[in-house]
Amino acid sequence: MNPKRHQPLPPSGPDREVLRQKGQFWTPPWVADAMVGYVTGGGACSIFDPAVGAGAFFLAARRVAPPELELRGTEIDPSALQGARDSGLSASDLSLVEIRDFVLDPPTGRQPAIVANPPYIRHHRLSAATKGLLREFGRRLIGTPIDGRAGLHVYFLLRALELLDHGGRLAFIMPADTVEGVFARALWQWISHHFRVDAVVTFSHQATPFPGVDTNALVFMISANAPIDDLAWGYCDVWGTNELRTWVESEFTHNTRDVKVERRSLAEAMETGLSRPPQPLLDPLTPRLGNCATVLRGIATGANEFFFLTRRRAREVGIPSDLLVPAIGRTRDAPEAEVSAEHLDVLEANNRPNVLFSPDARRLEQFPEAVQEYLGAGLAMGLSKRALIASRRPWYRMETRKPPPFLFAYLGRRNARFIRNRARVVPLTGFLCVYPRDPSPEAEEALWRVLSDPRTVANLRIVGKSYGSGAIKVEPRALERLPLPSPLVREPGIARVLDKSAESAER
Ligand SMILES: C[S@@+](CC[C@H](N)C(=O)[O-])C[C@H]1O[C@@H](n2cnc3c(N)ncnc32)[C@H](O)[C@@H]1O
Repeated sequence: MNPKRHQPLPPSGPDREVLRQKGQFWTPPWVADAMVGYVTGGGACSIFDPAVGAGAFFLAARRVAPPELELRGTEIDPSALQGARDSGLSASDLSLVEIRDFVLDPPTGRQPAIVANPPYIRHHRLSAATKGLLREFGRRLIGTPIDGRAGLHVYFLLRALELLDHGGRLAFIMPADTVEGVFARALWQWISHHFRVDAVVTFSHQATPFPGVDTNALVFMISANAPIDDLAWGYCDVWGTNELRTWVESEFTHNTRDVKVERRSLAEAMETGLSRPPQPLLDPLTPRLGNCATVLRGIATGANEFFFLTRRRAREVGIPSDLLVPAIGRTRDAPEAEVSAEHLDVLEANNRPNVLFSPDARRLEQFPEAVQEYLGAGLAMGLSKRALIASRRPWYRMETRKPPPFLFAYLGRRNARFIRNRARVVPLTGFLCVYPRDPSPEAEEALWRVLSDPRTVANLRIVGKSYGSGAIKVEPRALERLPLPSPLVREPGIARVLDKSAESAER
C-alpha cells in the first residue's frame, strides 16, 4: 500500500481557528514538488516564495531542484518560520527570507520564479484600513477597482504578477473563489491579456490538497510571456500522485492516468470559469431559470433556537397557531425530492423543529400573554442586540415569505438540488425559494419537469461556487442565471408555459 495515497487528518478545534486567522495551511509535498517543478522549468536560478510559512516550497526545491538554486522569500509572522526550521531547513536555506508584508510592503526587484500558497484570508477578516490600501493597489495595477469581496490571496497574486520578471514563471495554489467570485471576471480579463496562462490544475474531492478544509483549491501556472489562445487544464483525481509532477515537468505534454488533461480554448475557459470542466459555449438565447421564475433566499431568523420550534414546544409555550408558520430549516431535514405534510410529522416525531414563530410588528402588549412572556424571555437572553435582529423594528418582527412551490437546497453534503414543496412550508436560510412567474398549476407542473431533470441539475456547476467537500453554493441571482437544457425546454408542454412566463416577466 502506498502511504502517500492516504489523506492526513485535518486540524480541528481551536488549532484550526488560529490557522484560519493567519491563513496558515501548508502545501502537501506532492503538490509543492509539481509547482516548484513548473517554476524552475524555465531555468531560473532562484525561486521566491512570498508566504514562506513552514517552508513547503523550499523543502520541495531541496528535493526536486539543483542544490545551487537560491531560495528567497517573505513571511509576515516570524514564528511561522520556526516550523520551517523544525521541518529541516537550515539557517542558510532561510537566510534570504525577509520578515515583511509582501503585499503592502513588497520587496524591490523582479523575480524569475514565484511560487506560493498565499494566506486565504477572506475580506471580512481584514481591517478597513488594510482593505482600503489593497483596493488602491488593485485599482492602480489593473486600472479598475477589484470588488471588495476579494480576499488577501487575490492581492498576493496581483503583487506577484507585478514582480514577475519578463519570461518568468509563477505557480499559485488558490481557493476556487479566485475564479468564481464576483471580482473574477475583471481579474482574469486583466491576467489573460497581460500574461500567458500555461496551465490550471483542479482536484477531485478525494484528491483535495487540504483535506478537511472546506476549500476547493486550484493551482495556477502562469508565465510572463505573450498570451496564447489555449491552455492545459488538468483534473487530478488521486491524492498524493507523482504523476502531477511528471505531467508538469513534461511541459504539459505527457498523458497521465491520475491527472486527466485537456487543452481548452482561453475564450471558453474564461467564459465557463477555470474551476469548471470545459463546456460548449452557450447560445446567448439559451433560456435561463430567471425567464420563468424568481429566486429569493430563505428566512434568516437571527436566532433559530428561539424562533424555530417543534409544534410540541410551541404548544408548551402557548404560542397560538396564527403566529406559527410551517417551516423547514436544514437541508438534511429534506432528504427527498419532495416535502410533504407527512414529512413534517416525521420531523416532529424526531423532535426536529418544523414551525417558525413569526411575530408581526404589533406592539408587545397586543400579543397574547403567553407570547408576551416568551418574547420577554428572548429579550432577557439579549436577542434584541444580536446583529441581524438589532436591525429589525420591533426586534421580534419576523421576515415573511410566501411559501414557494419549489425549494433549492444550495449547500450541503448532499448535492445541490431542487425540492418540490407540497407541504407549502417556508424555508430558512439553508434553502432558496423558487417562485414560477406564472402561478398556474400547469406552469408549476411544467417547471417541476425542468427542475427535476438531471440535465438541469448538472448545469448548476456553471453558475455555482465550489467548495472542498464537493458541495456547490448558488446565490439567488446566480440561480436565476441557471441555463435550462435546450432539448427539454423545447418540449411542447414546457415551451408553451415558458413562453407565457417570459412574457409576464417582460411586462
Ligand atoms: C497558507 S500559508 C503557506 C505557507 C507555505 N508556503 C506552504 O505552502 O505551506 C501562508 C503564510 O503566509 C503568511 N502571511 C500572511 N500574510 C502575509 C503577508 N501579508 N505577507 C507575507 N506573509 C504573509 C502566513 O503567516 C503564513 O505562514
